[in-house]
Amino acid sequence: MPILDWDEWYETGILSIDHQHHCMFDALNRMYDAVASGEREAKVRWALDFLVDYTATHFRDEEARLAAIDYPALSEHQSEHAKLLEQVQEFRAAYHAEPTAAHANQLANFLVEWIVRHINETDRQYVAAMKAGRAT
Ligand SMILES: [Fe+2]
Ligand SMILES: [Fe+2]
Repeated sequence: MPILDWDEWYETGILSIDHQHHCMFDALNRMYDAVASGEREAKVRWALDFLVDYTATHFRDEEARLAAIDYPALSEHQSEHAKLLEQVQEFRAAYHAEPTAAHANQLANFLVEWIVRHINETDRQYVAAMKAGRAT
């Protein structure tokens, strides 16, 4: 069972961004499911690493697109991304040091809250500017 369901309410209307956000939801759900179904540690580790790497890739892409349109709040947006990646690395290190379901689930729960808030509050703020910059 997914920990975070995609809903059209999360859509920005910018297809490539929505696609990446949707992929982040999927990566998070795969990691959560791997833990919930008692998968081997290697599989959980792989899912967790994929989730973190995909999130970092999305951030880089989003920031490059915001830079391309001279988005005024880019540095604040970058700081939010950087802080999240730092926190996620701490969760990942904790899981690698002690690979328990509790550690993996702490990361999953933390990310659910963060992703929902970030998409709905911070990402939403650039939508008009990105659309005006003809990003698709
Ligand atoms: Fe963002
Ligand atoms: Fe985003």
